[in-house]
Amino acid sequence: MILVTGATGNVGGKVLARLRQSGHKVRALTRDPARAGFAPDLDVVAADLGRPETLQGVLDGVDKVFLMALGHNKSTHDANLVAAATKAGVRHIVQLSTLGVQEADEANETPLGRWHRLAEEALQRSGLGWTILRPNGFMTHALGWAGSVRAEGVVRGPAANLAEANIDPQDIADVAVRALTTDGHEGAVHALTGGEALTTPQQVEILGSVLGRELRFEQISLEEHREILAARFSPETADGVVKALKEAIESGDEFRGRTFDGVRQVLGRPPRTFRQWAEDNRGFFV
Ligand SMILES: NC(=O)c1ccc[n+]([C@@H]2O[C@H](COP(=O)([O-])OP(=O)(O)OC[C@H]3O[C@@H](n4cnc5c(N)ncnc54)[C@H](OP(=O)(O)O)[C@@H]3O)[C@@H](O)[C@H]2O)c1
Repeated sequence: MILVTGATGNVGGKVLARLRQSGHKVRALTRDPARAGFAPDLDVVAADLGRPETLQGVLDGVDKVFLMALGHNKSTHDANLVAAATKAGVRHIVQLSTLGVQEADEANETPLGRWHRLAEEALQRSGLGWTILRPNGFMTHALGWAGSVRAEGVVRGPAANLAEANIDPQDIADVAVRALTTDGHEGAVHALTGGEALTTPQQVEILGSVLGRELRFEQISLEEHREILAARFSPETADGVVKALKEAIESGDEFRGRTFDGVRQVLGRPPRTFRQWAEDNRGFFV
């Protein structure tokens, strides 16, 4: 049995769907099963990774876990699940981390990098089998533009010149499923990026060509960007993301634009492109 955390989310939702499609026995974790709206035949558990007492019994009969947690809670939430999994006799955890962990050493890492590094270390110390997935930024950030694209044909962003090799979360989910269901991934760290580095204006141009509309890019300040993020995430997470972005912009960071071969190595196919992502998600922008 495989437990999927973040089962209502971007990556976890896709992991869950793929595992179900291929006939694996799965259990989905959510804080609120009623809101999640899962299929009635799915094994669902209500639990909060921030409240270890709710994890009791959640891992009974589970031998593998897909583990994700959000923002500044990442290290404590992952450690809670890892502790419960160790007690329950889980064999293998596939952990969603971030490429930011390999970007910097401890002395100059960003809060985002630190939260994820601590989470990785807790898993690596546990004695359980582990696989770590380190993705670059997600292409789904572009969903945050949907409202202004629909209303005004405008995308607002703080970093006109920063090129990022963003990844389609579907690729991350496909790699996670492979690591959960096939041998050879124990002790592996998979660095996952898209196949090309694009600036925001370049993404906007591709999105416009998919939509058959001319779109405009408008630069905003980092503070304005922080306000937008804080409406979607916790203030600590918004601060962490903006701090990392500020450093990347100021240092002319080329790391975010570097491509890594993890998707091809694990899946034997190239990563999905931003154009493919935009075509699949066209409906959000019209
Ligand atoms: N976005 C990026 O560019 C990026 C880049 C690199 C790495 N990452 C990693 O990917 C993660 C985001 O993944 P995602 O986009 O799939 O997330 P997401 O779509 O925002 O999903 C959030 C999930 O977290 C669950 N959740 C939130 N708080 C919880 C809690 N206290 N206990 C249990 N579950 C909780 C939610 O479940 P319920 O609401 O159903 O309980 C939901 O399923 C980041 O945290 C980071 O580690 C992201």
